Amino acid sequence: INIKITDRDGTEHNVKAPTDMAMNIMEVIKAYELAPEGTVGICGGMAMCASCQCYILSDHDLPEMGDEEDAMLAEAFYVKENSRLSCQIPITENLEGLEIELAPET
Ligand code: FES
Repeated sequence: INIKITDRDGTEHNVKAPTDMAMNIMEVIKAYELAPEGTVGICGGMAMCASCQCYILSDHDLPEMGDEEDAMLAEAFYVKENSRLSCQIPITENLEGLEIELAPET
């Protein structure tokens, strides 16, 4: 699927993400090196660091937030209404055209 990701410098990247590799959005951000090594995905996708926080810009039907994600975002910095932890969003067909922006580094 195609995803538009705005990095922390404000640059937009149109990337392709596979739906058949059990990847999540955080892993896509890392795979395309859209943030310096070690600044995204620090906890390895366990919803325990918030380094993968992003803002959802498009109107897509995302999976419900789990308790861990909810709790982590309650403590994280720069949280907005549309914040999600990108490691908690698996890549699925219905996310075609998703647009997100990385939250600032903390
Ligand atoms: Fe740590 Fe997503 S990678 S919360």
